[in-house]
Amino acid sequence: MEIVPASESHVRGITEVWKEFTDFHRDIDPFFTTREDAQAEFDKYLRTALESKDSRVFVVLGGGNIVGYAIAQIAKYPPVFKREIYGYITDFVVKASHRRRGIGTELLQKIYDWFKPSGIDRIELRVAAQNEVGYSFWRKHGFQDYIHVLYKPFEEERTKDEGQKRTVAE
Ligand SMILES: CC(C)(COP(=O)(O)OP(=O)(O)OC[C@H]1O[C@@H](n2cnc3c(N)ncnc32)[C@H](O)[C@@H]1OP(=O)(O)O)[C@@H](O)C(=O)NCCC(=O)NCCS
Repeated sequence: MEIVPASESHVRGITEVWKEFTDFHRDIDPFFTTREDAQAEFDKYLRTALESKDSRVFVVLGGGNIVGYAIAQIAKYPPVFKREIYGYITDFVVKASHRRRGIGTELLQKIYDWFKPSGIDRIELRVAAQNEVGYSFWRKHGFQDYIHVLYKPFEEERTKDEGQKRTVAE
């Protein structure tokens, strides 16, 4: 098992693992259902990350295959906060067949090593509220909540309103 910075030649293999990553999220919350052209969009995003000096893509190679990958970037806060930049982990996945063997921990260490010279003093990421596996992993590595993203299905409320409008007009 080896973890290396990704190159163009890894795009196809990363995309395969990305599909597992999106299916995993769709299965825990249907919000994460992707559209038909999602793979093409991910392909663009990945190539941009591969070319950017502010991003780093890592791949986990095992038995000649890609069994995990991660994307990290140096990101900027809105220009109102004292702290200007932070390390942002946008994608982080190890294939289900290879989990719980310490690969995720090694992948995270590679990201830490890449972040170190940048001067950042804070790392952020988003984790789906229903993702118990991911949440357990991040907590174990010292990550804490600092913001909660709330949502409410609006369909019922909206149709109720439309019904009222119709009643008034009638
Ligand atoms: C999170 C993830 C990258 C961890 O990779 P990994 O190679 O299993 O990580 P490690 O072996 O270094 O760490 C194992 C820890 O991860 C968590 N974990 C991994 N697989 C798990 C599973 N099937 N059930 C519960 N916890 C799990 C646990 O905290 C576990 O520690 P434990 O074995 O002491 O309970 C991997 O589980 C994954 O890809 N999950 C799906 C995608 C995801 O959630 N990514 C993060 C999105 S924000």
